[in-house]
Amino acid sequence: MTLQIPAPTPADKFSFGLWTVGWQGRDPFGEATRAEMDPVHALTKLAEIGSYGVNFHDDDLIPFGSDDATRAAIVERFKKGLAETGLVVTTATTNLFTHPVFKSGALTNNDREIRRFALRKVMRNIDLAAELGAQVYVCWGGREGAEYGASQGIAEALDRYQEAFNLLGEYVTASGYDLRFAIEPKPNEPRGDILLPTIGHALAFIETLDRPELVGVNPEIGHEEMAGVNAAAGYAQALWQGKLFHIDLNGQNGPRYDQDLRFGAGNVRGAFWVVDTLLAGGYDGPVHFDFKPARTEGEDGVWASAKACIDNYLILREKAKSFRADPEVQAALEAAKVPELAVPTLAEGEGWRELLDAAPEDPEALAQRGGAFEALDQLALEHLYGVR
Ligand code: GCO
Ligand code: MN
Ligand code: MN
Repeated sequence: MTLQIPAPTPADKFSFGLWTVGWQGRDPFGEATRAEMDPVHALTKLAEIGSYGVNFHDDDLIPFGSDDATRAAIVERFKKGLAETGLVVTTATTNLFTHPVFKSGALTNNDREIRRFALRKVMRNIDLAAELGAQVYVCWGGREGAEYGASQGIAEALDRYQEAFNLLGEYVTASGYDLRFAIEPKPNEPRGDILLPTIGHALAFIETLDRPELVGVNPEIGHEEMAGVNAAAGYAQALWQGKLFHIDLNGQNGPRYDQDLRFGAGNVRGAFWVVDTLLAGGYDGPVHFDFKPARTEGEDGVWASAKACIDNYLILREKAKSFRADPEVQAALEAAKVPELAVPTLAEGEGWRELLDAAPEDPEALAQRGGAFEALDQLALEHLYGVR
């Protein structure tokens, strides 16, 4: 039977960055293959394909260096576009990577004046984000890093990163904004090595901040795969720690350059487990796609691939639900003792003394028990392949 792809609804909270559908296809070897996209045109088309929200870097909306009058006119026009389309600004972020001033970093640049400029740039866009109702402020430190061993002290760079987040936390609190930060890890590209390269690094860093409750993560599937780690497991740990404030869904084929494929392309199996993890963990934030429409495509291809991100999410969500609801899967989960992992290792009232006194287990006998994981995983694949 053919799966009916459900229609997207506002409750699904699908969102896109202006920089995704607006990507002109410039890469290190070639020029732009598509014309600039008007942000208000993007709003209209995003609404048409079933998006609920939109996300932007300051410079996606307001060109770097615009004067105050130009800025005000752009913001007014954008607000009108939002009102007309009903799209919500879920998230905003700062471009701290395109202008040459940021070539060796922004918040962690060795040059103190550049750090001060970067902080002011962030605060200015936080004001706009709050004004437009965004609740999450994404921080991707693409240029915070190095290609050399001695060009910056990692400890000092982390001190400055910490100082920046402490200051920004104080800024949103003092301003009364209902805004939390989401750090987006990435191992490399555009820098040879980027600070806070994985979800785990970011989670550990957050705990050192003055207001850790204001800061979570925005993991991107492709970036975790670039680091060679399991994206779904990272999302699960972020959920477990109450830190999954936002998500960047896309596709990637293992450790290589950042492909930013449409969601559902690339590692399909990995995408299935990410969706399953989001459902199991009750993630209810924006379902945000951070992909780059292939530079081979014209504008029709941009919208076809954006719509495909939404459709692939809805397809995988149906598949994850049918997998979990399948009685054979439930039996296979039991056979694999998956529910038993939720049972604490010690019994109520038991401590290390009682454990030491308990009848010993027989490791040889226990070693004879099979895991029964292959049958379980095959059921998952059969749901994914569409034969169940
Ligand atoms: C990437 C990054 C960026 C950031 C975005 C937010 O693909 O390397 O994901 O797309 O998410 O710029 O700052
Ligand atoms: Mn990416
Ligand atoms: Mn991203």
